Amino acid sequence: MFDADFLTRTPAARHAYRAAIDAAAATLLRALPAGPCSGRSAAALHPGLATELAPRHGHGLAAALRRAETIVAESVFVGHPDVAAHLHCPPLLSALAAEVVLTALNQSMDSFDQAPAATVIEQQIIDWLCAVAGLPAGAGGSFTAGGTQSNYMGLLLARDAWLARQGWSVRDNGLPPDHRNLAIVCSELAHFTIEKSAIQLGLGTGAIVTVPVDPQFRMDVRALEQTVAQLRSDGRRVMAIVATAGTTDFGSIDPLPAVGHVAGRAGAWFHVDAAYGGALLVSRLRSLALSGLDLADSISLDGHKLLWQSISCGMFLVRDAETFDLINTRADYLNPESHEADGVPDLVNRSVLTTRRFDAFKLWLTLQTHGVDGLSAMIDRVLDLTRQTAALLGASTDFELLTPTPALSCVVFRYRGGDDEAEADALNERIRRELFTRGEAVVGGTRLHGRACLKLTLLNPTVEFADIEQLVARLARTGAALRAPAGALSVQP
Ligand SMILES: Cc1ncc(COP(=O)(O)O)c(C=O)c1O
Repeated sequence: MFDADFLTRTPAARHAYRAAIDAAAATLLRALPAGPCSGRSAAALHPGLATELAPRHGHGLAAALRRAETIVAESVFVGHPDVAAHLHCPPLLSALAAEVVLTALNQSMDSFDQAPAATVIEQQIIDWLCAVAGLPAGAGGSFTAGGTQSNYMGLLLARDAWLARQGWSVRDNGLPPDHRNLAIVCSELAHFTIEKSAIQLGLGTGAIVTVPVDPQFRMDVRALEQTVAQLRSDGRRVMAIVATAGTTDFGSIDPLPAVGHVAGRAGAWFHVDAAYGGALLVSRLRSLALSGLDLADSISLDGHKLLWQSISCGMFLVRDAETFDLINTRADYLNPESHEADGVPDLVNRSVLTTRRFDAFKLWLTLQTHGVDGLSAMIDRVLDLTRQTAALLGASTDFELLTPTPALSCVVFRYRGGDDEAEADALNERIRRELFTRGEAVVGGTRLHGRACLKLTLLNPTVEFADIEQLVARLARTGAALRAPAGALSVQP
């Protein structure tokens, strides 16, 4: 019974499995959009995607996959050269192949007896990352759902370890009465999940104190020192200092050695959000940009950004893996001690999650397939392309380039146009929206000093400079057409 519905040991099940995977791949290839996206609105998508969601009688996989073609066709095609908005990469085929295997194995990382080889492989990769990041023996960590979870875990351990050093156990007592004094200092460009973590950790938004950045969008260390001194004289307690290695919009890397030393002197936990820039650890030419990472108490890394892994693939590293003891409780049914005795940690004790995917397998297969040098070459490719793109925009009279020396793979710029700043803001926003709704390009947008800007995040190593030239020309044409009096000009694709 149900033999063709599960991957079991029978020949019929194996045959059905192969047919199902082949059919899924065929559906994907048949329906994959030719362009970047369809541009349809959610309201317009509803009717096309309206199937009976829970039919009483199933249609069988082949028919169900045919129905799924609309979903595929209405997706953003992340491998298209004109998809360049977010830190949203095209995944490597090695990662996609790994997904086929890891989802079928369906190992659960919370205990050794649900994931024996997976536990060992995850730990090997984490140990390797700790070593590459320069963390000492005793460091550890786990895979996470992404930078959000890693940042949360960093600040969770920061809070509990810092308070433990003051003789307060959050585990036993909850937050201390004077918790409103606790401060987390980061740059004004730190990812929003730092603030979100503070909210979730019961510290509130008031715990976040931001420091300005320098003209290269890096944390201003002198301002950091002054902020820390001021907080202290105000009776605040600096629990953590967060540096960003790769800000989301500008790719800037805070001066890690200097920030780390300020954190050390202040007795604060030093968390580095390297979700974006941490990929440079595998770059032969550019890993120096991360020097100072070895000072971190905890680090967020993401495989699903500049390492081309499919979502999700985050990594969290902590300098002293024993810190996890502060947040753990026992679960008899997961039998922790029996495996710890073999030197294999039950990874439920290294995460805030219980059931967890074997995402480490994707990075493992990618490393086996391409090697560190292969990844390094891809990173070099997109970073070189980014420099060329910045030069192109810098030389254009249509745009004002706001990131002349991009540290990673994003370029921020502004279409020149409109009679005043407000009009130019509206124009920049409209250019982006227009290209999306016409299904021509997915381009990013952000604000700098309150002004609306355009942003390209280049994460596709297969893109050629000629593709970028075409995209930039399209942006300029769209801007010109939108500026023209209504009806005077239509935008040529
Ligand atoms: C610097 C930085 N940190 C954290 C995150 C959150 O990562 P995720 O979306 O993987 O949760 C992002 C996302 O873009 C980021 O750019």
